[in-house]
Amino acid sequence: GLAADHRPCGPAPDDQAAEGHLADIHDLGELRAAVTALKAGGERVAMVPTMGALHDGHLTLVREAKRHAAHVLVSIFVNPLQFGPKEDFKRYPRPLREDREKAESAGADLLWTPAAEEMYSAPYRTFIEVEALGRRWEGASRPGHFRGVATVVAKLLQVVRPDRLYLGQKDYQQS
Ligand code: PAF
Repeated sequence: GLAADHRPCGPAPDDQAAEGHLADIHDLGELRAAVTALKAGGERVAMVPTMGALHDGHLTLVREAKRHAAHVLVSIFVNPLQFGPKEDFKRYPRPLREDREKAESAGADLLWTPAAEEMYSAPYRTFIEVEALGRRWEGASRPGHFRGVATVVAKLLQVVRPDRLYLGQKDYQQS
C-alpha cells in the first residue's frame, strides 16, 4: 500500500544523507528525529516545500538550497486545504517514484511525504489567514486558497524549523 511505499528502508536517515542518498520519510516522529540529528551537527538545513510533480523550477530551488546549506529537505504534500471544491485535488498528479529520483539527483538529502491525517488530525479547526492580501487577486477567485497555503506552510515550517526556506517566485502572490 501507500504507507509501505513511503516507509524508509536501509540505514538510518542521517547515515543515508551522509552518503548522498535520499532519506525517504513519511512518519512525523521520524522526520522530527532526523531533522534534530542533522541540526545537532550544527549544519544548516534548507527546506523546499512542494506538492510534488517536480519540474525544473523545483529542481532549481533544490540546487540553489544545496549551495547554501549542508542538508536539503524536500517536502511533498498535496495540500487538500488549498484546493477549492471545484478544483481537482484527487486528480492532482502524484508521480512519487519519479519525484524521489529527481529530488535526489538535484541534491536533496531528505524527502518528507507527510500523511494528510497527520497534518490535519480530525476535527481540524486551526487556520492561518492572511488578511487583505489573501483575498485579493487570485484570492478573489479562489476563496480559501491562500488560507490553505499559509496554514500548510506554517505547519511545515513549525515541524522542520529550517535555517532557509526556498519558494518559487512563479506564484507571485503566494511568495
Ligand atoms: O507552491 C506550492 O507548491 C504550494 O502552494 C506549497 C508552497 C508547497 C504549499 O502547499
